[in-house]
Amino acid sequence: MIDELLLGIDAMDEKHDEFLDILSYMKLSPKCEFLTLFEEMITQTKEHFALEEHLMHEHDFYGLTEHLQEHQTLLDEMEHFYMRAKKMPVFGQSYINEYAYEKFKRHVTNIDSQLAMFLKEKDLTGIS
Ligand SMILES: [Fe+2]
Ligand SMILES: [Fe+2]
Repeated sequence: MIDELLLGIDAMDEKHDEFLDILSYMKLSPKCEFLTLFEEMITQTKEHFALEEHLMHEHDFYGLTEHLQEHQTLLDEMEHFYMRAKKMPVFGQSYINEYAYEKFKRHVTNIDSQLAMFLKEKDLTGIS
């Protein structure tokens, strides 16, 4: 993962790495695997968000409400494009090729970074 996206909280960085792996694999994969990989991306994103939401609840994070809303918006959008991709693959492909990385990067740098800083202040960098 590029340094810019590394947050220094092991559990979060691990989930972000998994997402980027699926994303780059999807860009190279044959069309017949696209929907299966899209489903895998949705499942992985749910796990990724659940982990962060658990950390936020557990440590009483001040930005919980905003972060939860942002997760819901991102997941709704991903599922929306997946449903459209089932009928018209081109919609899913443009989401994956043109939007998904930018959306992910924006969330990590603007929102996840606040949570990471908060956990670091509590000395919880190796948390899982
Ligand atoms: Fe995240
Ligand atoms: Fe997040």
